[in-house]
Amino acid sequence: MIYVENLSKEFCIYKRQPGILGSLKGIFKRDIEIKKAIENISFNINKGEMVGYIGANGAGKSTTIKIMTGILTPTSGKCQVNGITPYENRTANAQHIGVVFGQRTQLWWDLPLSETFTILKKIYNIPEDQYNTRMEFLSEVLDLDSFIKYPVRTLSLGQRMRADLASALIHNPKVLFLDEPTIGLDIVVKEKIRKAIKFINQEYETTIILTTHDLQDIEELCDRIIIIDSGKKVYDGNIKNIKKDYGYITTIEATFSNKNDLSLSNLSFGFKLDSQDLNLNIEDNKIIIRFNNKKVAVSQIIACLINEVQIKDLHIYEMGIEDIIKNMYKAGELNA
Ligand SMILES: Nc1ncnc2c1ncn2[C@@H]1O[C@H](COP(=O)(O)OP(=O)(O)OP(=O)(O)O)[C@@H](O)[C@H]1O
Ligand SMILES: [Mg+2]
Repeated sequence: MIYVENLSKEFCIYKRQPGILGSLKGIFKRDIEIKKAIENISFNINKGEMVGYIGANGAGKSTTIKIMTGILTPTSGKCQVNGITPYENRTANAQHIGVVFGQRTQLWWDLPLSETFTILKKIYNIPEDQYNTRMEFLSEVLDLDSFIKYPVRTLSLGQRMRADLASALIHNPKVLFLDEPTIGLDIVVKEKIRKAIKFINQEYETTIILTTHDLQDIEELCDRIIIIDSGKKVYDGNIKNIKKDYGYITTIEATFSNKNDLSLSNLSFGFKLDSQDLNLNIEDNKIIIRFNNKKVAVSQIIACLINEVQIKDLHIYEMGIEDIIKNMYKAGELNA
């Protein structure tokens, strides 16, 4: 369904010296810097697959998506989506793909959402009966009814993201590109969006490529991940144990009521771990505990804390994708 071979994209960045003199100099001679956003990326994705395309900030994820959706032309290499070269035939490509860029909406800001769908119906030339069935399906899966009459600019972020997803799916595309579809959303809306994505993939065998910084998205949705780092593909495979094997550091941040309530010396956990598996820090009335969740459970740590002090607030953080990638490098999993 998606075929990418030795894909590279370079951007020319024109550097400008600071100040007026710099601007004047720039008229005659401009310093150019070549930025390699992606380098020799290759992969194939079959019909019905849901693949997580992950990497740190600036790794080249959006650049790859933009090439596959026809927004950018690569500097070299090949790319075909459903037999079409996207950047050579953007209109034909647009007929069978859907795209959501979580960072910005593609909806008409001032129009009621329902009118956006009517316009898309005309753009994609969707027959009336197909459109009605599709709208019914999307309204149900994405729960659109309560805000479909409102102008897009009045929607909350979670509503807008669901609306963006619906507009990307209105023509029942064979391939769906999702670039950070859950960014900035609360846990409840994230879960709703994930459920919808999963359902669409299963029901229609839609091929889905998803970029995200949220490990939960990946774990719940994808069997396969492709990791890119500084523009290069470093991993392509199964993710079954990625969190267990490489995401084992959990951080707990607890704020306690009384500043003098706790000192590192009198905190007793009742178990001994070396410093790489258990690390404590106290700042003002906050304690930050980083620990290896393979060696000790979150509940054990919390139980010990509750024993010692009165807790006002508590947050638990799992490891992010960036740190997991670092751990995978250390373990020799990635071909740097
Ligand atoms: N239009 C552009 N002009 C110049 N450089 C660009 C352009 N678009 C992207 N880049 C550069 O290419 C690299 C890859 O960018 P890209 O947006 O693909 O990263 P990303 O993996 O999507 O990151 P993020 O997780 O932050 O969204 C970055 O170094 C970025 O600065
Ligand atoms: Mg991006």
